[in-house]
Amino acid sequence: MKKALFATLLSTVLCMPAIAATAFTDGKDAVSYRQASFQLIRHNMGDIQDMIRGNVAFDAERVQRRAEALALLSQLPWESFTVEGTKEAGGKVKPAIWDNLPEVQERGEKMAADAAALLVAARTAEQAEIRKAFADFARNCKACHDKYKAD
Ligand code: HEC
Repeated sequence: MKKALFATLLSTVLCMPAIAATAFTDGKDAVSYRQASFQLIRHNMGDIQDMIRGNVAFDAERVQRRAEALALLSQLPWESFTVEGTKEAGGKVKPAIWDNLPEVQERGEKMAADAAALLVAARTAEQAEIRKAFADFARNCKACHDKYKAD
């Protein structure tokens, strides 16, 4: 059993460079990837926000499902900014982003960490905890958009 697990892990590790090389066919593909992941983040976030605002009934199980998605999705957009050719491929970015990629990655990691904390809060099913963690998570968006997202 242990041996099988090790073999699986090993093959996952060995396959990684191949996956990285083929995940994006070109710079434009990387733009589609990040825009798609940001859209999925928006959908999942919006549902929690609606529950917090009382627009729809609070449902702890549903918050948890959304938070699970956000914990994963919040890890996705960031690598796309480093794909070769993506700088020239369009997207709604301010040019300043290309001179500050390490800072963008840091912001991305911060958002992913806040999403992980939101999931921990969601699992408690305590509304006060969820509100606080959600506010922390949501702050990431505008801060980065003001600096790096074009209208
Ligand atoms: C570290 C920077 C950063 C953070 C944090 C960030 N974004 Fe963005 N976001 C961007 C950039 C840059 C773009 C433009 C991407 C492009 O068009 O290539 C963007 C685009 C978007 C888009 C439009 C996608 C499309 O289809 O054109 C949505 C929606 C979005 N972000 C939602 C969010 C939400 C919600 C959060 C917070 C939970 C968030 N973003 C956090 C940088 C960020």
